Amino acid sequence: MTLSPNWQLIDREPARDSFRDDVLQGLSAITKTLPPKYFYDARGSELFELICDLPEYYPTRTELAMMRGHVAEMAAALGDGCALIEFGSGSGIKTEILIGAMRPVSYLPVDISRDALCTSAQRIALRHAPLQVTAVCADYMRLDELPLDAGARRVIYFPGSTIGNLTPEEALDFLARSRRIAGRGGAMLVGVDLKKDPVLLNAAYNDTQGVTAAFNLNLLARINRELEGNFDLARFRHIAVYYEKLSRIEMHLESLVAQEVTVAGRRFEFAAGERIHTENSCKYGIDEFAALARRAGFAHRAVWTDPQQYFAVHLLEV
Ligand code: AVJ
Repeated sequence: MTLSPNWQLIDREPARDSFRDDVLQGLSAITKTLPPKYFYDARGSELFELICDLPEYYPTRTELAMMRGHVAEMAAALGDGCALIEFGSGSGIKTEILIGAMRPVSYLPVDISRDALCTSAQRIALRHAPLQVTAVCADYMRLDELPLDAGARRVIYFPGSTIGNLTPEEALDFLARSRRIAGRGGAMLVGVDLKKDPVLLNAAYNDTQGVTAAFNLNLLARINRELEGNFDLARFRHIAVYYEKLSRIEMHLESLVAQEVTVAGRRFEFAAGERIHTENSCKYGIDEFAALARRAGFAHRAVWTDPQQYFAVHLLEV
C-alpha cells in the first residue's frame, strides 16, 4: 500500500464487542431489532453498491444527477477554503463532485467501516492532492468532537438520505450535535429522500432481482460469520413496507417457522411470523425537514430538488 503524504487515518473503531452486545440486546427485546449500521460489512457494502444501481432504487442516481447539476451553486453558497467533514463516506462519488467544485483545504471522512473508508480516502487524497485528507474510523452517531484546527469554515456533508435511518426525534438530536461539531459559521449539506407515491417507495425496497432481500438477510449471515450464529437464512424472509402515517419504509426479517437460533452461545426463540425490525428509512417533505433543522438550531439556507421531486439536498447554516 502506497501512502500518499496528504493522507492519514485516525482509528477510533468501536470495539468488536459492541456488535455482539448490540445484537444480543436487540434479539432479547420484546420486539426484536437489529441496528442498520451493521448491514455494511464487506459483503453488505457490495450488495448496497448493487442496490444503488437497481432500476427501482431511484435515490442514488437522482442525488448524483442533482450534485452534477447544482454543485456550482452549492460551492458558491459554501465559499472557498472550507474544512469538509463527511459522515458515512461510502463510495465517495458524490463527494468527489463536491470537492472538485468547492476546493476545500481539508477533507475529513468519518465512517465505521475501516476498509471502505481507507480505500475511498486514499483515492480522494491522490486525485485531489494537495488536499489534506484525515480519515476518521468511528461511529459518527456517537461523535462529539473532531480533530480539526480552528479557522476554516466547517462544512458537514451527509448525503444519501442516511439520516432517514433515524426517527425524527433521533434526527433532531443528531442534527443538534452536528451543529455543535460544525461550530460558529459552519454549515451542513444533507441529502434527504422526499415523500412520494407509496407504489414507487415500495418498489424501491422490494426489487425484482432480490438484491435488497439479500442485503437484509446478509445481516443474519454476518451474525453467523462473526458471532458464531446459526441462523438458517432459508427460514427467514425479507419484508419492506411503506407506512404512510410514519412516513417511513420499515424493513424486517420474518421467521417463516417457529424456531430457535443460537448467537454467541445464547438461545433465541422465534414464533412463526415473528419479525426482526432491521431498518427505518424515513421520508420528509421539504418544509418538514426545514422545520426539523430549525428546531435543531440551524438556519435553513437553501434546498435543491430534481424535476420529479424525488430527492432533496438541504443547505443548513449555524
Ligand atoms: C443508505 C439508509 C439511505 O434507506 O434507502 C437501501 C439503505 N436499505 N435499501 C435507504 C437501504 C434498503 C438506504 N440508506
